[in-house]
Amino acid sequence: MTDKTSNQMWGGRFAAGPDAIMEAINASIGFDKRMAAQDIAGSRAHAAMLAATGVISDNDAEAIREGLLTVLSEIDSGTFQFSTALEDIHMNVEARLKEVIGEPAGRLHTGRSRNDQVATDFKLWVRDQFDAAEAGLIALINALLSQAEAGAAWVMPGFTHLQTAQPVTWGHHMMAYVEMFGRDLSRVRDARARMNEAPLGAAALAGTSFPIDRHMTAEALGFDRPAANSLDAVSDRDFALEFLSTASICAVHLSRFAEELVIWSSAQFRFVTLSDRFSTGSSIMPQKKNPDAAELIRAKVGRIYGANTALMMVMKGLPLAYSKDMQEDKEQVFDAADNWMLALAAMEGMVKDMTANRESLAAAAGSGFSTATDLADWLVRVLGLPFRDAHHITGSLVAMAESKDCDLPDLTLADMQSVHGDITDDVFGVLGVDNSVNSRMSYGGTAPKQVRAQVERWKATLS
Ligand code: ARG
Repeated sequence: MTDKTSNQMWGGRFAAGPDAIMEAINASIGFDKRMAAQDIAGSRAHAAMLAATGVISDNDAEAIREGLLTVLSEIDSGTFQFSTALEDIHMNVEARLKEVIGEPAGRLHTGRSRNDQVATDFKLWVRDQFDAAEAGLIALINALLSQAEAGAAWVMPGFTHLQTAQPVTWGHHMMAYVEMFGRDLSRVRDARARMNEAPLGAAALAGTSFPIDRHMTAEALGFDRPAANSLDAVSDRDFALEFLSTASICAVHLSRFAEELVIWSSAQFRFVTLSDRFSTGSSIMPQKKNPDAAELIRAKVGRIYGANTALMMVMKGLPLAYSKDMQEDKEQVFDAADNWMLALAAMEGMVKDMTANRESLAAAAGSGFSTATDLADWLVRVLGLPFRDAHHITGSLVAMAESKDCDLPDLTLADMQSVHGDITDDVFGVLGVDNSVNSRMSYGGTAPKQVRAQVERWKATLS
């Protein structure tokens, strides 16, 4: 067993230091150093409050403030020596503060615990990430709106079961993703508003006997209010779970769009051309231009949802209040946040740069009997047939076109009349894809006019 001196921060009752393996499993400094700025901001707010409430002297508070700024600059400049023996960012910062300012450093931890400290630091960190996600989502939505505006009237096939269904517009398809990412945006905002309560001052679990002012520290750190129950405040990780579940749903959306881009950029589809900036080549096949960014975005949901599952399982069954299990929260959230932001930025870049191939889209829009529903609707509207009969007649005409290896508009009037005698020349008007999309004027429908109205609505919403 290692025979080190006991921990300088909590080792009063210990005769010996921890085993090397104990130190390895216990330490979080390897990852929680990412919360250094939040830790120091929290300590500054706490020290200022302790002075304002007369718990510590103004001189000590000033020394602590100056010392924390020195520590922060050491961390920012990379000269700070992180120590595994000091476990985590909280004790690393405090121990260094002691070296820098001496005795007053020991007064900083009055009326708080690492339990409320870590909850506060982590909330501040996650809150910044919610803000980053909000910005990333807005940027992506704006990129989609530009695509939608440019291509509000460009026709393309709409699919169900990935089989040609009815013609839609490029703008309409882009706007479908605007709706999805718009819901992600509203989830981000909801969760951020809900999480914005300060744990600081909950202390270890029960609150403190010192006359602290939790409203003051909450306000100084940009929280809306202090968390109302000290047991809950130190044991709550809902904000991290909501972050991960919001990220997971968004990652699912990103993966769906990424999948479409992979399909659309293939030689078989040619619906879009991705820019060189967001494609890669093959080291063996010179002709290849691969949609790697889209594939990687498609894959990110794996690790992001994995993090969500992992933290759900960490939290499951934990009794009140703090348990060390909860130290396992950070790496999951850090990794998910990094990859979520990266995926959002990559998707925004791809969408901004990509070119819709209007000719390929239009050619595909007209194939696959995509206006069969328009034909059936015409039989209902003009000839007054029940929809079920119209459906059947149209089906026969599709079969006829298939056997002649042509599309519906290529059938002659005589062909049409051989199936139903009352069909007139007028029917050919609805078989064109432009007519088809223009006719779908119902609210939320694919008509260019409707698409433009939705683009305007979103622009107004975001501005
Ligand atoms: N590193 C710890 C964590 O991330 C900080 C809190 C430790 N609290 C304690 N009572 N040991 O959860």
